[in-house]
Amino acid sequence: MSSLTVVDNPLVKRDITILRNHKTEEYQFRLALRRIAYALVNEISKDFTLKEIEVETPLEVTKGYDIAHQTVLVPVLRAGLSMVNSFIEMIPNAKVGHIGLQRDEETLQPIDYYYKAPKNLEISKTIVIDPMLATGGSGSAAISFLKNKEANDIIFACLIASPEGIARIRKDHPDVPIYTAVVDRELNEQGYILPGLGDAGDRTYGTF
Ligand code: PRP
Ligand code: URA
Repeated sequence: MSSLTVVDNPLVKRDITILRNHKTEEYQFRLALRRIAYALVNEISKDFTLKEIEVETPLEVTKGYDIAHQTVLVPVLRAGLSMVNSFIEMIPNAKVGHIGLQRDEETLQPIDYYYKAPKNLEISKTIVIDPMLATGGSGSAAISFLKNKEANDIIFACLIASPEGIARIRKDHPDVPIYTAVVDRELNEQGYILPGLGDAGDRTYGTF
């Protein structure tokens, strides 16, 4: 079954509160989102594999470290874009794929409109990035696409997960660990997370 890691950090709890607040302006919303993304990448990278390398200081040669594997970041458009730069800053040599998915507001099923993935997914650690895990339809579809492209070491990273979304990823992709900043109570009839933060894409980009 997919493991579930909830980032436990006071700054993240404060920032989730900023995101939830309906009065938060777009620029503050984006900044809080970026800060939480740093905390997520910090948590996720605890499981990265290191290789030893030599480094020459101004005084002598000593042991150092580098990351042993290629990392591929895959933001789910649109809202995932708001988090990906924090990941890139921490993993500057990461490759970046994109998956465009939009939920149909009636059926809640994801409609795909764009896919682009880097090569060599089979030897990479691939991190799917999407702020919201609601029904789990978009997350599950993104992971399925990457598996079809031979990715076999996939992590799902989000800000807010619903119990329903976690159950969906665990059912469809039990091999994929989930990292989130918080697990919320439930979905409403329109598929929105409660208490949630509303529509992450709209709140990030001001498209109400
Ligand atoms: C949001 C969110 C996820 C999806 C989650 O995107 O960013 O991709 O909904 O819902 P699900 O778990 O029920 O699939 P949305 O479809 O609103 O598109 P947007 O990012 O373009 O706003
Ligand atoms: N997508 C969002 O942006 N928010 C939700 O609460 C559910 C899906």
